[in-house]
Amino acid sequence: MKKKISPSMMCTSFVDLKKECRLFMKHGIEYLHIDIMDGHYVPNFALGGDFCRAVSACADIPLDIHLMIEDPDRHIGMFSGFEGATLTIHPETCYQPLRTIGEIKRLGKRAGISLSPSISFGSVEHLMPWVDLVCVMTVHPGYSGQSLVPGTIEKLEEVAGWVRKKGYSIEVEVDGNVSWANLPKMISAGANVFVAGTSSIFQRDADMEQNIMRFRSILDEKEG
Ligand code: DX5
Ligand code: ZN
Repeated sequence: MKKKISPSMMCTSFVDLKKECRLFMKHGIEYLHIDIMDGHYVPNFALGGDFCRAVSACADIPLDIHLMIEDPDRHIGMFSGFEGATLTIHPETCYQPLRTIGEIKRLGKRAGISLSPSISFGSVEHLMPWVDLVCVMTVHPGYSGQSLVPGTIEKLEEVAGWVRKKGYSIEVEVDGNVSWANLPKMISAGANVFVAGTSSIFQRDADMEQNIMRFRSILDEKEG
């Protein structure tokens, strides 16, 4: 499955949003990762529906909306207007995750589930046949700039191995500290969508276009 880059837009400088989106389109970036946070499920607040509209106005790239919020059933309608978007929920944040996944699909959007480091794959395996994407978080949900939580690469291997064995066409996304050092291990573990944040594309001490080309060359190199 083609390896895709999903820049974490919570890391944007905001003032350069248009410029960054132009770069993403120039370099064929496949998704834009939008972290929605409510200060309950995660300690942080982040982006919302208005930001998604602003990004959609700047870039013709599908949104990869990561709902790190309690009770997502109350909010998925707000994000259902974005053509081609993926809405990803944390199963432990809703009473009936299978029903929520069905509602996302009924709204014509791709459905994803995200596993924080605290949630085992075994506890959500039964949801997998119903989703388009599974996101393995390699940091605790909430903040950019964190370090990878030990054991999460092994979980990524477990999830990617399950998808491969079952032959489902489910995208396996990795989210958190996707750094230059961690990226090769994440590729080898079987991820095919990479959330690129402050550890790579948004690294402030380097040129963003250089970072994007560096990221893509590492993916292409490992594509074989
Ligand atoms: C974590 C966020 C990510 C990511 C940001 O809650 O979902 O978007 O960590 O990238 P890094 O980890 O590289 O700063
Ligand atoms: Zn995220």
